[in-house]
Amino acid sequence: MKKILIAPSTDPCPVKDLTKYVKTLEEAGADLIHCDIMDGKFVERRTFDYMILAFIRKSTRLKLDVHLMVQNPTMVAKHYVRYGADRIIIHYEAFPDKIQLVGAVQSIKKLGVSVGVAINPKTPVKVLDTILKYVDLVLVMSVEPGKSGQAFIKDSLIKIAYLNKKRTEENLNFLIEVDGGINEIYAPIVAVSGADIVVSGSAIYNAENKENMIKLMHGQAI
Ligand code: DX5
Ligand code: ZN
Repeated sequence: MKKILIAPSTDPCPVKDLTKYVKTLEEAGADLIHCDIMDGKFVERRTFDYMILAFIRKSTRLKLDVHLMVQNPTMVAKHYVRYGADRIIIHYEAFPDKIQLVGAVQSIKKLGVSVGVAINPKTPVKVLDTILKYVDLVLVMSVEPGKSGQAFIKDSLIKIAYLNKKRTEENLNFLIEVDGGINEIYAPIVAVSGADIVVSGSAIYNAENKENMIKLMHGQAI
């Protein structure tokens, strides 16, 4: 089985502790950091913006995924790129149509970063069929976006398997990332279904021994 990458999320860590937390995650064996940006409009909560991302950037050598749960992702993406994002993930649901979504993917790519598209649990995966050739990554939301600590939605496994099959059949090379409710039990299951990266918020944040938790998620013995 290929090794799945573990991307701990900044949510639920309080903003004041983020730089320290990110250092701890790097030492504990995280593969990349998933930064959850919420604007209080696309989702109810607000987290932090690109000024805080700049501090995170200085605290780690790991790559930074920036998951934009915001109303106008195209407008703000350039700030996150400037302050350290390696990949920008925008939501399918933030756009009125696919033409505008693909336009946003292409314009953000020109900033020199990898671009992913996220879909909410209620969005059918098939809506992405014609878009897959433009994206570097698909983020399957396995909880409703907006807060950590929710239960993994099992139907997400069908979406992951569908994307994995499509990728092989059409000879595409986008990555599959899964976000929400993932713990040491679900990480290996998600990996077998075809995911390349798992995001984990509360399972890692609440783990007393983060190194062991990340090892278990990698499918290693502790
Ligand atoms: C959901 C966020 C996730 C979330 C993950 O709104 O995009 O990244 O914080 O947290 P857990 O793993 O606790 O669901
Ligand atoms: Zn996220």
